[in-house]
Amino acid sequence: MNIAAANWKMNLDGGQARAYLDACLEEDAQWRRVRDAGVKPMLFVPATHLAVCADHLPEGFVLGAQNIHHEVSGAYTGEVSLDMVASVGATAVLVGHSERRQHNGETDEDCAGKVRRVLEKGLFAMLCVGETLPEREAGGAEKVVAGQIRGALSGLDPKLVSPETFAVAYEPVWAIGTGKEAGAADAEAMSALILSELSALGLATVPVLYGGSVKPENAKRFAEQPHVSGALVGGAALDPAKFLAIAQAFG
Ligand code: PGA
Repeated sequence: MNIAAANWKMNLDGGQARAYLDACLEEDAQWRRVRDAGVKPMLFVPATHLAVCADHLPEGFVLGAQNIHHEVSGAYTGEVSLDMVASVGATAVLVGHSERRQHNGETDEDCAGKVRRVLEKGLFAMLCVGETLPEREAGGAEKVVAGQIRGALSGLDPKLVSPETFAVAYEPVWAIGTGKEAGAADAEAMSALILSELSALGLATVPVLYGGSVKPENAKRFAEQPHVSGALVGGAALDPAKFLAIAQAFG
């Protein structure tokens, strides 16, 4: 099973979200072929759009939130909880995206709390990991990524982790939104490392996705890598036609 995941980030207003879903519905036959080829489409949308997206979600698509707060409820003005996003249709949650680590100070410990909460509720969690450019240039990329995996997952009940409930997205920070994707061989090597970290923690083999400037022109290169099981796509996935083309590359 491969995954083609769109991360809308803070883009598209309510009307544009609706138009995006209509465009996917118009390509229903193509999306059906993608799904028949073993690719699961996922949409990570702003919390404000979950309800409208849930009402118009194309068949076989998984709807996800881009973040949740790690507490169940309380005095956290401006935050949304897991129960809130689940109650309006989210069945998946993105955890630890580098933009949240960078701009919102999210730590591995925060990620661990969120992953556990999502999995305990029976929803799907996608954990994002990845090194910065200085970390890569200093030769520390593997250490950083392994540390993020261990920090967010050690102590997790192995029974909660399966390919149906969990995935990891390897997203080198320097490749996100820059147009400069990682080399396919680097993505492959890091995916293999992530899988070996999961196995060292006694966790099941789950899909490892690559993210960072994926587009229709380069998706196939990543899809060809044996340990890369999908893509998490920002910019290019704002165009439903490009998102479809990327998903097709993984089929
Ligand atoms: P990008 O973003 O495809 O625009 O590089 C990927 C992501 O941040 O998930």
